[in-house]
Amino acid sequence: MNIETLRWQNNHLEMIDQRVLPARFEYLSYDSAASVAEGIRAMVVRGAPAIGCAAAYGVALEALRLNKTAPETFRSGMEKGFANLAQSRPTAVNLFWALQRMRQVWEGMNAAAPAVVAERLLDEAHEVHAEDIRINRAMGAAGAALLADGAHVLTHCNAGALATAGWGTALGVIRSAVEAGKKISVIADETRPFLQGARLTAWEMVQENIPVTLITDNMAGHLMAHGEVDAVIVGTDRVAANGDVANKIGTYMVAVLARRHNIPFYVACPLSTIDLNIASGKDIPIEERAPEEVTGFRDCQWAAPGVKTRNPAFDVTPAELVTALITERGVVREPDKEKIATLFHQKQL
Ligand code: MRU
Repeated sequence: MNIETLRWQNNHLEMIDQRVLPARFEYLSYDSAASVAEGIRAMVVRGAPAIGCAAAYGVALEALRLNKTAPETFRSGMEKGFANLAQSRPTAVNLFWALQRMRQVWEGMNAAAPAVVAERLLDEAHEVHAEDIRINRAMGAAGAALLADGAHVLTHCNAGALATAGWGTALGVIRSAVEAGKKISVIADETRPFLQGARLTAWEMVQENIPVTLITDNMAGHLMAHGEVDAVIVGTDRVAANGDVANKIGTYMVAVLARRHNIPFYVACPLSTIDLNIASGKDIPIEERAPEEVTGFRDCQWAAPGVKTRNPAFDVTPAELVTALITERGVVREPDKEKIATLFHQKQL
């Protein structure tokens, strides 16, 4: 099954509603920057690269929506659209990367008519989308060699097709290893509180007949201690210049456990997720989400009413716990500031 997380249909953006998977598989339709921003905020679409693609389409939709207005109205409307999208979620740097890329295209067009700008921005959004799939394929090719035939690979959250334009980052590496003929079985952490592992990763793997075993997050240590995990592979929302990795809450615990048990801990990371403006992980903004996600799930609330909660959606794994970053430009073992800087001087994909 080819999972199209985002697709362009009849001059609208359509996105799979990831809040209702796997019970229901349905697309929602978007026609403006404001509506796409709301879709990102509400987690209809989630996962760093997918958020970046959605933001790029959000900019293009806004330009199309305003393309018959006077240049001044167009400019102020576009600025509002950019600001709205930038405020949707704080941690995944792909959002800001995509907005910056779209802004550069727009500003590079000087005094072009709004309709011309809109068409060009739509082309760019299509390119961001298509490029993401190419990058995921390249990461898959680079990373597949790291997984042994027969490996049991633990993953946290969902870094699959649903988190990207297609194929996936961490799950993309697993897909590529399977495509290369290796037998891989996946252990999916449930990923409390939003359940991306239970609802999305398990669903993706089941669709493709890749063997998958679902565990709750607190079972990972037990399985590692019993030799049931050969490697860990996760995605990321932002990597600092020194190699510290922000990813879904709980990733740090998994990385510490992996080091304790001498299990390699890999991070699949497109260059668009590396933020050279942030020196170390402690400066990465961490989203704090609603208490209701901790006190229950959807309509079922099980905690004592009024109890105080914390709900950081991401944590930071220090670079020293990362065995390797898997990028579209190859594998970077024991990532550090110098190795990461060098990546950006290599040839474009
Ligand atoms: O809150 P989410 O579901 O957007 O968080 C997603 C993750 O943490 C993913 O692991 C990360 O974005 C990498 S996706 C290829």
